[in-house]
Amino acid sequence: MMALPNIERSELLQAQAHIWNQTFNFISSATLKCAIQLGIPDIIHNHGQPIPLSELLTALPINPTKGHCIYRLMRILVRSGFFVQQKVTGNEHEVEYLLTPASQLLIKDHPSSLKPFLLAMLDPIITNPSNFISTWFQNEDQTPFYTANGGTLWDQAGQEPVLNNFFNEAMASDARLVASMLLKECKGVFEGLNSFVDVGGGTGAVAKAIAEAFPHLKCTVLDLPHVVANLQGTKNLNFLEGDMFEAIPPADAILLKWILHDWSDEDCVKILKRCREAIPSKEKGGKVIIIEMVIQDYKEGDNESIKTQLFFDMMMMITVTGKERNEEEWKKLFLDAGFSDCKIMPVLGLRSLIELYP
Ligand SMILES: C[S@@+](CC[C@H](N)C(=O)[O-])C[C@H]1O[C@@H](n2cnc3c(N)ncnc32)[C@H](O)[C@@H]1O
Repeated sequence: MMALPNIERSELLQAQAHIWNQTFNFISSATLKCAIQLGIPDIIHNHGQPIPLSELLTALPINPTKGHCIYRLMRILVRSGFFVQQKVTGNEHEVEYLLTPASQLLIKDHPSSLKPFLLAMLDPIITNPSNFISTWFQNEDQTPFYTANGGTLWDQAGQEPVLNNFFNEAMASDARLVASMLLKECKGVFEGLNSFVDVGGGTGAVAKAIAEAFPHLKCTVLDLPHVVANLQGTKNLNFLEGDMFEAIPPADAILLKWILHDWSDEDCVKILKRCREAIPSKEKGGKVIIIEMVIQDYKEGDNESIKTQLFFDMMMMITVTGKERNEEEWKKLFLDAGFSDCKIMPVLGLRSLIELYP
């Protein structure tokens, strides 16, 4: 056995602290989930001004014997950027809390609330597979999700209405936020189109916003039967049950938002080839619009953003058969599927808008 290097005392303690920190990382999401389940952002929001701890305690639906622990819950969430804590003016023994932009986005009634996304991603059916990663590395299953639940995410969603609903609601909450940004920042992407299909478009949150903004554009949402069955279309929006690996209806443009990262390279090439068959030539305005992460280089990205992108990459490995890709990997996929050109625009925070031309 190789002798261990002689680590200095301070380095050793730092290493121990680092291990503790990573070991208890799950506490960050668990405490945040608790705050959302108790409705803390909504209570502060409805209060209309900074809420003193004593008033927060009165408003909270908790057993009064646990009240003294709320200060501790809030303290860690202040540290992780979800609330601001300050002293009450004129009473320096009491503290009060304010929302931050992150907790504002978790208010139930915020038009782009990410509450459904957070609660779905932290539901045991989604988090439990992460306990099976090493088992999965040693077995034949396609994903840790499969090892934990005995089926793929899509199959299970088709069989369990509760999972289907909360997953679709989670996706719709992200889609509403992205749609509002698309229409503010990148409306030009949809200008001049006569028809577009949102492939794997879920319950249609993006398509609805686009259809309203462009009343002459014929919009279609294609998704699996359990997602779109019984959904009502509008004058220029219709829902279509189908399988994107089998057929995609013809349109000027196709939207793939958070689709390709769910699938392996081979499957992505199949989906992209189906898209290519469905759109006209570049000269006639044909294109595929992709909304996905482009993993940043260690040198160019900030640490926090890269970590978030790598979390997503692990989520894709654990729950589905996909992955997050860097620019080179994306371009290879596009080439393999027979596309000639693409434009990558990093305009949606950690995600990019990619226009892909035949
Ligand atoms: C990660 S979600 C993204 C939903 C939506 N595009 C969004 O970003 O809000 C992936 C979607 O692909 C759909 N999907 C999975 N397999 C599919 C298939 N074979 N054909 C069509 N849609 C499929 C799922 O039902 C789900 O709605």
